[in-house]
Order: sequence, then structure tokens, then C-alpha cells
Amino acid sequence: MNVSPETLERRSRTRIRQFHHHAFRTTDMEATRHFWEDILGCPLIGTFVETTDPVTEEPSNYIHTFFELGDGTALAFFQFQEGLYRESSIRGPQDPFDHHIALEVDSKDAVYAYRDRLKAEGIDHMLIDHGYCYSIYMHDPNGMQVELTTKVPQTVEIMERHAKTAHADLERWLAGVTEANNQYRRLRGASEAP
Ligand SMILES: [Fe+2]
Repeated sequence: MNVSPETLERRSRTRIRQFHHHAFRTTDMEATRHFWEDILGCPLIGTFVETTDPVTEEPSNYIHTFFELGDGTALAFFQFQEGLYRESSIRGPQDPFDHHIALEVDSKDAVYAYRDRLKAEGIDHMLIDHGYCYSIYMHDPNGMQVELTTKVPQTVEIMERHAKTAHADLERWLAGVTEANNQYRRLRGASEAP
């Protein structure tokens, strides 16, 4: 049975279009890769090496991996270089590096519209330009860290390119080569916002 026109119409009015990714912090990315890729069959499609904490803007070093589901959404994981993970109150009651969910909206305008609503409600939020997507973060009343994110014009090109090198990038980082490989990362994502 197909869903009714009423259901489709109701869904079309929801600006949060779909799940985008779920993120969790690990201390063993290779065990994580083996579980999600080799056992559960979700391919590693991106290993982004970052050298700055985008929230505190302090030097750091971590990888951000994505394991793809059949609908193009993903499970994401972070691993910091040994000894570099530091809690920071600036990241709020639930650290997005520990756990967050990301939901997709269809444009930067939608991100800014949510920014305006959060502002009007007095809810703390932050904009971050990841290069491959553009996001706003907030906590819900339960302390759950939520990211609303949109694809940007270069998203597909970046993700297709990183999919080809994700395994080599992971192996290199685990072997101790820690140069950043996300050249599109922009700090101070909020400064560009209208
Ligand atoms: Fe995220």
C-alpha cells in the first residue's frame, strides 16, 4: 500500500528532510572499521584528518570517518590522537565528539532560518563550516546534541574523492601521519552567516 497524498503532503512541509549521520567517539578506529565494514557491510567512505578543534578553534588532531548505509546516510566516528582528547565546557553539556545525531535540511537558508528560530527562543547554538557540509549545532531539552546540516555545492565532489582514499587515509593516520586532508574546512563558519 502506498502512503496517502495527505501523508506525502505532511512530509513535504517538514524542513528537516532526513537523517544524515549519527556520530560517536572511539578510541579504536580499526576495530570500529572492522565491525562496521567487514562484519556489518557498511563501507568506509571517508576519513577526514583534522588538525583543529572546530568548536574551540584550538590545535588538535583527530580523524572523522563515515560508514555508508544503503540510503546514502552514514554512521560517523571520531578518534583523537592519543592524549589529545580534552573535554571542553565550550562544547556544552553533551560533547558532539562523544555523540550526536545529524539531520539534513535542504539549504544554507534553512540552516539560517533555524539559527534565527533558536536565537528567538534563546537556545545556544553554533554554526560550523565543515567544507563538505554546513551545520548548526544545539542541544535539545534533554541535553541531546543535535546537528542540522546541509549539503553544499562541493559536497558530492569532495565525498566522491575521499571515498577513493578513505582506507589509505585511515591507514596513514593510524601509522602516525597526521597532516590535515580536509582542505575545505573553514573555521569561524558563523562569520559568513547573514
Ligand atoms: Fe556531525
